[in-house]
Amino acid sequence: MPCAGVLALLAGCSGPSAQRPQHAIVDVTAVHTINPGSVPGLTAVTRSEQDDRRRLFAGYPSIAGAEPLTDALAKAVDAQIRPFKADTRERSTLPGGNVPELNVQWSLAAASGDIVGVRLLSDRFLGVSGGLSRQTIWYDGAARAVRPSATLVDGRSGLARLTEAVRARLGTETNPSQVRADPNTFTSIVFNEQGDMVVEFSDYSVAPGAAGRIAAALPHDTYGPLLSEFGRRAHDAAVATPPKLALRSSAATTAPSAPSTRPPAPPRTDCTKAKCIALTFEDGPGPYTARLLDILAARKARATFFVVGANADADPELLRREAAEGHEIGNHTQSHRDLSRLPAMKVNSDIQRTDEIVRAATGKAPTLLRPPYGAGNATVAEVARSLGMPQILWNVDTRDWHDHDARVIADRAVSKARPGAIILLHDVRRSSVEAVPRILQRLQDEGYTFVTVSDLLAGRRIAPGSTVRS
Ligand code: NI
Repeated sequence: MPCAGVLALLAGCSGPSAQRPQHAIVDVTAVHTINPGSVPGLTAVTRSEQDDRRRLFAGYPSIAGAEPLTDALAKAVDAQIRPFKADTRERSTLPGGNVPELNVQWSLAAASGDIVGVRLLSDRFLGVSGGLSRQTIWYDGAARAVRPSATLVDGRSGLARLTEAVRARLGTETNPSQVRADPNTFTSIVFNEQGDMVVEFSDYSVAPGAAGRIAAALPHDTYGPLLSEFGRRAHDAAVATPPKLALRSSAATTAPSAPSTRPPAPPRTDCTKAKCIALTFEDGPGPYTARLLDILAARKARATFFVVGANADADPELLRREAAEGHEIGNHTQSHRDLSRLPAMKVNSDIQRTDEIVRAATGKAPTLLRPPYGAGNATVAEVARSLGMPQILWNVDTRDWHDHDARVIADRAVSKARPGAIILLHDVRRSSVEAVPRILQRLQDEGYTFVTVSDLLAGRRIAPGSTVRS
């Protein structure tokens, strides 16, 4: 049988995996990934927007010492965002009341020695059209150069022979003539856990979109002779155990995110007596979160962080700091997808994975859910109810994703503030974090105390699954 396709394949398709139990169903095209939390100097960068025209969330890693890679990833993400925004310039109602959505997730295909491989999955939803594009960008730390996936094989003859091997593997799943020896077709070349090469394609590029993910796993005998010198190093990095990234300049630029002495958590507040208000920060942690924690500590303010599991996974130390300094950690799901378009099982797993990441980092799972974009429906409410979590929305929107001026963001927060309010901000944005000192000072001058959402709601009976705005 051919060894291809996203659906489960029998073990034994490829050389090394034949040693697995014969009854196990194994997807040999599953990509081996590295835990980003173990990579020194890595922070998750996030771009997000929410309005009534479109929903957008895109992430990529920034790795100290690999600046050309970070730049290339920013460009690759931008190349997804720009056409999406152009296509959604007009407000359009999609069937079922859906809103167009772009979601870009990343994972590490390798991070060892002086090699990094970052895989980007871009999921674009425009109603009828859409689909996933797959791209893996490699980084050669020795040359400080970014390498497209096709450079893992040696030149044009290598790509031609790879094309033949992939066509043979894919068999009748695709039209072989659509798999062309073109670097733009071979956008994602990675490895599986056994060290087989996995060649995967974007939806629609080699088969009809309805076919789903098309991927082929090639055993070492097949792809080994085709590798370029860089391809050999990429393979070795991808399968290194344990992976250990050692970029030349990374040690010098990696700063610990936690101060040596932690400020004590501010005292708790009884909001039945005090004038309370809750700042909520979404989508982090990210590059500005540590700075935000310093700002909050300096003014003895508590806040609630609705974290994205994928970002939390990249920097669990920031999560520990948030918890240790008296802040509340809420659940903003694993991948920041519009939950209102997902089936119950997927909603459930997207919430639960983040619960597990927060519990592993801090010892305590979140008790509050903030659905991405504030988008819910009966399914989301039912899943939240079954998990015992209320859905915490907001009644003060600073529209901080839209404005890059800290003063505008602060003015909006302060002018709309009232006792019991829940204010929406994003700690993945520099201007939002820069607005916080002004917000704290002006509202503290008006007699407000900054509390966590749970402290704000203490004493109120809130049913799991229900929606709370203030
Ligand atoms: Ni969000």
